Amino acid sequence: MPHHTIAVLGGTGNQGPGLALRWARAGHTVIIGSREAEKAERVAAELVARLQTNPAAAARVRGMSNADAVAASDLAVLTVPYAAQNPLLEQLRDALQGKLLISVTVALKPPKVARVYIPPEGSASEQAQALLGDGVTVVAAFQNVPAEQLDSDGIVDCDVLVCGDDRAAKRIAIDLSEDLGTRGIDAGPLVNARAVEAMTSVLIGINIRYKIHGSGIRITGLEGKV
Ligand SMILES: NC(=O)c1ccc[n+]([C@@H]2O[C@H](COP(=O)([O-])OP(=O)(O)OC[C@H]3O[C@@H](n4cnc5c(N)ncnc54)[C@H](OP(=O)(O)O)[C@@H]3O)[C@@H](O)[C@H]2O)c1
Repeated sequence: MPHHTIAVLGGTGNQGPGLALRWARAGHTVIIGSREAEKAERVAAELVARLQTNPAAAARVRGMSNADAVAASDLAVLTVPYAAQNPLLEQLRDALQGKLLISVTVALKPPKVARVYIPPEGSASEQAQALLGDGVTVVAAFQNVPAEQLDSDGIVDCDVLVCGDDRAAKRIAIDLSEDLGTRGIDAGPLVNARAVEAMTSVLIGINIRYKIHGSGIRITGLEGKV
């Protein structure tokens, strides 16, 4: 499996660090992206410190502005709140041409984020594809994976549903799921991200009602198939 240079856009928040740590340990180079290069460098330094027992992985983590991170990467992973997605992607549209964008961003409408919200475009992922145009391949993945599980020393106890219109791009996201220590499943075309993103609201509601932090999903019946 090839190793990538992955820009985690908005990687300074909840979801980015856990992804970055696991991918760096798996052999990928990870660039934490931020609106402020200094903030990205600070968060990257914290991750490097957490990887002190694995110097090779630590050497693969750095921080940059989102724009510089895209320029230095071969694929980008979008981990910003829904309201931030369009303004950020408009800034990065030219730099992203010819690249793969894996969107973790979910269409949530605060304050009622445990209630399914379907935006006019269908999903945040389809909105990203429409904004970026055909020169960028958008794949939706990791949208049901809780930050608490990613940023832990334990296993990631859930599956990753991967939606997209490009089979090779989905394969990359599935391989990156395996690098997190979990299972990536081809969940069909990008339009199906509507259901996956909606499931995130369902999971947030389950977390609230059952007073837990990291509910996730598992697909049954696939034994021996993935
Ligand atoms: N947290 C979870 O468990 C989880 C699980 C599944 C999916 N998701 C989805 O993943 C995405 C990221 O979640 P998160 O919890 O990591 O979000 P977050 O911590 O609230 O924000 C992530 C980063 O986004 C950047 N950001 C915030 N406002 C911005 C703006 N206006 N313009 C540009 N960048 C902005 C910030 O980075 P800088 O200030 O450094 O630029 C921030 O650190 C969300 O869409 C969420 O729905 C989250």
